[in-house]
Amino acid sequence: MQTSPQQDWIQDLVVYQIYPRSFQDSNGDGIGDLPGVLQHMDYLEQLGINAIWLSPVYRSPNDDNGYDISGYQEIMEEFGTMADWEAFRDQCKARGIRILMDLVVNHSSDEHPWFEESRSSRDNPKSDYYIWHDPAPAGGPPNNWASVFGGSAWEFEPRRGQYYLHIFSKKQPDLNWDCPALREEIFSMMDWWAEKGVDGFRVDAISYLEKPQGFPDSPLPPQPDGYSLFNNWVAGSEGTHRYIRMMHDRVFGPRGLVTVGEVSLNRPEEVVDYVDPDRREFTMAIPFVPPVVEIATWSPEKLVADAARDWALLGERGWWARFLSNHDKPRQVSLYGSDKAFWEPSAKLLGLLIHTLPGTPFLYQGEELGMTNLAFSSIDQYNDPEAKNRYRQLLLEGTDPAEALRTIQLESRDNARTPMQWDDSPNAGFTTGTPWLQVNPNYTRINAAAQERDPASILHFYRALIALRKEHPALSRGDFAQVATGSPTLLAYRRTHARETLLTVLNFSSQPAELPQGLVPQDAQALLSSYNREGGWQGTSTLRPYEATLFLLPAAQA
Ligand code: GLC
Ligand code: CA
Repeated sequence: MQTSPQQDWIQDLVVYQIYPRSFQDSNGDGIGDLPGVLQHMDYLEQLGINAIWLSPVYRSPNDDNGYDISGYQEIMEEFGTMADWEAFRDQCKARGIRILMDLVVNHSSDEHPWFEESRSSRDNPKSDYYIWHDPAPAGGPPNNWASVFGGSAWEFEPRRGQYYLHIFSKKQPDLNWDCPALREEIFSMMDWWAEKGVDGFRVDAISYLEKPQGFPDSPLPPQPDGYSLFNNWVAGSEGTHRYIRMMHDRVFGPRGLVTVGEVSLNRPEEVVDYVDPDRREFTMAIPFVPPVVEIATWSPEKLVADAARDWALLGERGWWARFLSNHDKPRQVSLYGSDKAFWEPSAKLLGLLIHTLPGTPFLYQGEELGMTNLAFSSIDQYNDPEAKNRYRQLLLEGTDPAEALRTIQLESRDNARTPMQWDDSPNAGFTTGTPWLQVNPNYTRINAAAQERDPASILHFYRALIALRKEHPALSRGDFAQVATGSPTLLAYRRTHARETLLTVLNFSSQPAELPQGLVPQDAQALLSSYNREGGWQGTSTLRPYEATLFLLPAAQA
């Protein structure tokens, strides 16, 4: 496995994603903020993480919760001030925690001064900072492209008599990367943050920078509202890679930043194009391979097969971001595990999986507590524009409203965005006011304070996992080899580095499993088990539901 040699520290990263809006409110307005983050620095340090990916904290009208930026070098008023950010930075530095800022440069907010100027006329100095197009000859939008959040991807601006393009909401106009002056603005903004002490960036929605010449119709089938998605179709073009390389050569490379590209792939193999060090693009990638929320398509077998495929693809020349959760996905224990009978062992099993596969583990806030999905009883309780659009499309398709709501309950990004559950006081200790999004009522049972007191909790399990990574370089640097088990839900793999071999065995099922003879050698030493509450590995041939154990193999076996 390779990152570039001067970036050896990247292999030791354990990244914690903070979605500030939902982390901790410090002033009672119901919205999490930077002073709120500062209240929990000890918590983060004790967890053992050494990097934070901070979802956007820039000035924003919050059409898409900060992913619509109206001031790249300012802090969102609701989140605090630049002085608060600097205090956060200093706290991170003092604790050896690296900062990855979320960088959204596919689009800005329509309230960004650049856009306000660009839309004002056809001949202002920023007129080509965004993507403008004349109406179709017969009138109406230039082509059939659909916005990811519903409707046409084009919005009319009477002052120019033209349409502008927005892959996401109409308040998120796409920036025109073809314009050298715009690129220069972005590069100098990145430089400015690097100069302020950030260690890297998670780069949002970065596969769509170049739009096809001539803006042809998308060949994809129309959605129920008549428009056709085009974002995956245009993803990853040579021109887009060229722009990423410019960012690298101009900013990332010279400053030695760690970068995580959020990339959309049509084939999983395309990830190599973004992370092969020879191509000078990103350190690692968070890939989206459609469908994004793989409710119907994932299986335990596929998770490990994918890991094996990635190893074959990147083992010698790349690096991975390893995650099951983020602010765009349902809660992992609800999606991949069991949030009912086997809540605790399945949450631990998922943690063990992520922290023992090759690559950098990413934890999303609340995952370390086993936070679960929350099914709102009405579409009006959802906040996310994507959920609302998906609901509309389902109804247009003729889906019955109750069924459509059930789909949203499973898939919605709001599942991950309900406030952090700190303790069992009202609103889970997140706010003294009214939270911007309802707190999951299970906070009285699932919360950080309770888990802090309970040495067998999921929280303590995650601390142990992260500590093991520091003790066993095989986890951060080891080779990967899948071990056949004969069962699609019994997974096993080895990680080997120098003279050390670790073996992970996971019963990824709500049924007991029979362990093939010899899979776990007699003298293997159990380091950590998802049944730590029950005393851990029993040494018997039957594994309990969601039983997962990390073993250290005796040197002779290695
Ligand atoms: C990324 C973000 C997501 C956002 C979108 C548009 O996918 O993770 O939250 O809605 O980009 O910026
Ligand atoms: Ca607040």
